[in-house]
Order: sequence, then structure tokens, then C-alpha cells
Amino acid sequence: MQNGITWKGLAIFCASVGLAGLWISNTPRDDDALFPLPRGRTLVNECGGCHVVYAPGLLPARSWRKMLAELDNHFGEDASVQEPARLALLKDLEDMAADGAFADMRMRRLAASVPVNTAPQHITETAFFKFMHDEVPMSFWRRKAIGAPANCVACHPRANEGRYGEREVRIPQ
Ligand code: HEC
Ligand code: HEC
Repeated sequence: MQNGITWKGLAIFCASVGLAGLWISNTPRDDDALFPLPRGRTLVNECGGCHVVYAPGLLPARSWRKMLAELDNHFGEDASVQEPARLALLKDLEDMAADGAFADMRMRRLAASVPVNTAPQHITETAFFKFMHDEVPMSFWRRKAIGAPANCVACHPRANEGRYGEREVRIPQ
């Protein structure tokens, strides 16, 4: 009865091809942003004036929720955003957060590294950040051209586009 191909075999084969396709289409290309920014200019305009435009996927949603509820005292500064722009911003941050609806494997790993009962406000304090940078010597962070670990753009020149690919890293002297 068996002539090489069985229905079960065929079904498994089709499923594998489908899954491989899914995997390939989910893998970021070299020129893609590892941590994409929301469409539109709100995040860039409201949150890019004082520092790097930190991508939503760099913190879990609860961190963004806490931060957007306290913008009038944002690390000692007033970073208030008028409604309804604040609500739109919050929705983008929640959707694209490390544990949001559009999170990929890298973001989920980041989210999993954050203890559930905490809502860190510093990306640089997450275990993921520390793990990714454990080969960067302490003395580097204090170089004048860098200033602080949160100054992502010093070493990731296109951080303001969410681009953190290893191949684009440039450490200033
Ligand atoms: C008026 C200036 C200002 C604006 C506007 C502003 N920030 Fe900040 N932000 C700061 C300062 C100051 C810090 C603290 C830097 C430090 O502690 O070294 C900070 C730190 C942060 C950090 C922590 C980075 C880290 O890992 O240490 C995040 C995340 C952040 N801001 C997100 C936002 C978001 C989201 C918005 C827009 C809603 C925003 N910021 C708008 C001034 C601003
Ligand atoms: C002193 C320079 C420096 C600064 C500042 C810095 N990084 Fe990095 N980052 C690196 C280096 C070097 C690597 C590559 C580590 C490796 O692959 O061994 C890296 C890797 C990464 C990766 C992993 C990329 C990948 O291919 O998976 C991410 C994500 C990242 N950094 C995010 C950030 C964020 C977010 C900030 C700011 C909050 C930041 N970095 C600040 C030097 C820096």
C-alpha cells in the first residue's frame, strides 16, 4: 500500500515549508531596525528633543505606562505631552513594547529578563541591556564622546531609527 508518500508525510512536509517561510519572513534583514519605531512623528517629536528616541521595544508596557503617567516629573524634568497626543503615544508604546502585540523573539527575551513586579524606567538597568553590553569595558562608558550608557547613539549611530545591529556599532575614542 505504501508508495513512498503518505498523507501524513505530505502534511508534515507542507507544515514545515510553511513554518520555514514564516521564520524567514520574521527574521529582520540587515538593513531593518531591530527595534522599530511607531509610524508617524509623535514619538520623535515629543520624546526625541532631550535624548535618543528610545524605541518602544526596549521596555515592557508597564514601564511605559508608569512613565507616561508621570511625565510632569520625568527624571526631574517636565516632559508633559498634551492629550490626546499622550494617549496616542501610550497606545503605540504599549502595542510595540517588549511584551506588546508586535514583539519579536528578541523583545520577548528582553521582557522576560524584567522581574514581573517591577516597571524599570531605565533601559540601561534591564538584564538584557547588561547582557548585550557585558563585553563593553566600564572605562568606555565614561569616555567624553559617550557620556553615559543611555546615550545609545554614541555607539549605535542610527539608534534614532531603532537600528542597533551589531554591524553598525561604532565605539568612539
Ligand atoms: C525635557 C527633556 C525630556 C523630554 C521631553 C523627554 N525626556 Fe526622557 N529623559 C530625560 C532625562 C533628563 C532623563 C534622565 C537621564 C539620566 O538619568 O541620565 C531621561 C531618561 C529617559 C529614559 C531612560 C533612559 C535610560 O535607560 O536611562 C527613557 C526610557 C525616557 N527618558 C523616555 C522618554 C519618553 C518616552 C519621552 C516622551 C514621552 C521622553 N523621555 C521625553 C529628559 C527628557
Ligand atoms: C559604549 C558604546 C555603546 C553604547 C553607549 C550602547 N551600546 Fe548597545 N552595543 C554596543 C556594542 C559594542 C554592542 C555589540 C555587543 C556584541 O555583539 O558583542 C551592542 C549591542 C547592542 C544590542 C544588540 C544588537 C544585536 O545585534 O542583537 C542592542 C539591542 C543594543 N546594543 C542596544 C543599546 C541601547 C538601547 C543603548 C542605549 C540605551 C545602547 N545599546 C548603548 C555598544 C554600545
